Amino acid sequence: MDVGLLGSGHIARALAQGWSRPQIAARERPRLHFYDLVEHSAADLARECGGEEAASATELVAAARMVVLAVRPRDVAAALAGVRSHLQGKLVVSLAAGIPVATLVASLPAQTRVGRIMPNVAVAVGKGVLLLAPGTLGDDVGGVEEVFGLVGEVVTVDEALFDAATALSGCGPGFAALFLAALEKGGRAAGLDAGTAHRLAAGAVAGAAALGELEPDPEAIVRAVCSPGGMTAAGIAVLEYGRVPQSVAAAVLAAVAQASRLA
Ligand SMILES: NC(=O)c1ccc[n+]([C@@H]2O[C@H](COP(=O)([O-])OP(=O)(O)OC[C@H]3O[C@@H](n4cnc5c(N)ncnc54)[C@H](OP(=O)(O)O)[C@@H]3O)[C@@H](O)[C@H]2O)c1
Repeated sequence: MDVGLLGSGHIARALAQGWSRPQIAARERPRLHFYDLVEHSAADLARECGGEEAASATELVAAARMVVLAVRPRDVAAALAGVRSHLQGKLVVSLAAGIPVATLVASLPAQTRVGRIMPNVAVAVGKGVLLLAPGTLGDDVGGVEEVFGLVGEVVTVDEALFDAATALSGCGPGFAALFLAALEKGGRAAGLDAGTAHRLAAGAVAGAAALGELEPDPEAIVRAVCSPGGMTAAGIAVLEYGRVPQSVAAAVLAAVAQASRLA
């Protein structure tokens, strides 16, 4: 499928990197087209990941079967206004946080098929979690799932819960990375060199995540590694005293609340 990325910033780059991984057979890869207002961004991405730079947003839309809106939420209205009449008959997939399908539909020609996808940065390595609100994609939803499924697991979500789900899958990697950085810092404070601290901390977080996928109750993992009077128990006591679990849950709610302020 020809996929046009309108906006060539951070998430467009992560998707393009994911789609251009050598693990994906050439015949399965989408053909990528890029456009961005920032000079060189689209060309740089096309060079890095393979694909074509479009000379204008209109040219991008003309080349694409599916147009992926990868601009910041506050720029969505202007980006759509510039190409509105050319979007007839195209699939439009918005990555913009906080902008409902109904708002997109109102800005598009009648019968344009539109849905939302919320990827996270792990799409760059093919391990993303991508939320899908099918909106008005109808029987084109399968094709959209297929293309985005090349870079991670696509999870269909009721749009009413899209912001809540985004706070976990979209913001969660950032929260986990903050924890990872803190773990590393603790390792360095305890005398490890930076490289070893990074390797051990990343391995510990990846291992916990892999176990967490199998264990429906993550607190069971905490109990299993906390022998009374042991090293882990001593550390957990400090995290609980600092109300870290409550702060993480509050971070999720803060992220959800922020979604409505983005557009
Ligand atoms: N970053 C993530 O991890 C992530 C994850 C999931 C979803 N998203 C969503 O993805 C969208 C993009 O986020 P991002 O982090 O990639 O933003 P970004 O790095 O700022 O990239 C957006 C790019 O779009 C350009 N742009 C603005 N208006 C345009 C237009 N009319 N036509 C073409 N290009 C235009 C911007 O140029 P200027 O700088 O000149 O405005 C900028 O280069 C957001 O809506 C966000 O909610 C992001």
